[in-house]
Amino acid sequence: MISTQPVLSFGYFKFKKNKIPGNIRRLFYLSWEDAFWDILLKKKVPMGSFILLPDFFCKDVEENIKSHGYKVSHYPIKKNLDADKKSFIEKIRQVKPKVVVIFHTNGIKSKLFENCEWLARVTHDIILIEDSVHKIIDPEKINIIKKDHFVINSLRKVVPLQGSELFGDREDLDFSTPSFVQSFRYRLKVYFLWVLTILGWSLVNILPGRLSKKFGLAAEKLMLAGYNLIGDSILPAKGGPGGFLSRRVNFEKIEKVKRHQVDTYERLLADLLPLKLFITVEDKGSMRGFPLILPKNRANGILEFIRSKGLLVRFELDDSVWARNQKIIYLPLGIHMTQRKVEEVCRLTREAILRNF
Ligand SMILES: Cc1ncc(COP(=O)(O)O)c(C=O)c1O
Repeated sequence: MISTQPVLSFGYFKFKKNKIPGNIRRLFYLSWEDAFWDILLKKKVPMGSFILLPDFFCKDVEENIKSHGYKVSHYPIKKNLDADKKSFIEKIRQVKPKVVVIFHTNGIKSKLFENCEWLARVTHDIILIEDSVHKIIDPEKINIIKKDHFVINSLRKVVPLQGSELFGDREDLDFSTPSFVQSFRYRLKVYFLWVLTILGWSLVNILPGRLSKKFGLAAEKLMLAGYNLIGDSILPAKGGPGGFLSRRVNFEKIEKVKRHQVDTYERLLADLLPLKLFITVEDKGSMRGFPLILPKNRANGILEFIRSKGLLVRFELDDSVWARNQKIIYLPLGIHMTQRKVEEVCRLTREAILRNF
């Protein structure tokens, strides 16, 4: 069977530390949300302020934002995962948010960051969060466009590590991560669930048939329990033992492998994809999964068939506003996928789509 998530492997890492440009500071947290809460706290964003989010976003994170005392508003994301620039600007004018989140959906660079001079103008006195949870970030490629512009990732989604890196200008990141003891029990619980989850996904890749599927289903349950728990702590938590490896992610290798895999998916599925996206070479290397965007009336049949064959993909961000009109599945990408496995996923997906015409 094939794991849909990264598995334990040193192939994701290298010995040499990645370089961070001199003007940029990096802090390490337990999760994206923990980094986010710390920014709100340290930058003294008043409770009750609006946080502007894309409408393709995680409901659980939105609920956590509300339980931290903030209001949420959305700007629309188009069917092809692009943000709509006009509506985005209109929403900023209407809502006057204190914080704006721009999400590189599935790791595909948001078009809002193309020619970003205009963006710096509309968000000049706003905290701008570049949500890179689905993306592998090479710190050398980070481009800070304005004061209080921060980039946050969520490593567990793209490499076998729990934790999130926060990057920003040294002058804006004039604070440190929380102490070791702050939210300690929450941290322990998150790590405990993550260790079981990663062991489960790793076993999926090596065990035979039915046993593999059982471990996959257990790993998926544990993973979702982890997703649910993460971000619940009112006080943010710093990152843990993953810090050492997080500085040694092998971007070059991961990007090369993913580009090749995306090319394979495109080649073997192109004639059947209900919605084909134009994906740049750069995006191919940094995407979380290969996006399969499906019309609502066929999506359930296709998902059920693929899962019944043991590939435990899901509808992603399925409780978002965007997902009311269509569904998206991420087909697996990463170091744990061999060429043979990618071809097997393509064969399964083709069969699922053809059976549900
Ligand atoms: C789009 C998006 N942003 C942020 C987050 C929060 O990431 P974390 O779970 O690391 O807090 C998630 C969580 O799944 C997400 O889907």
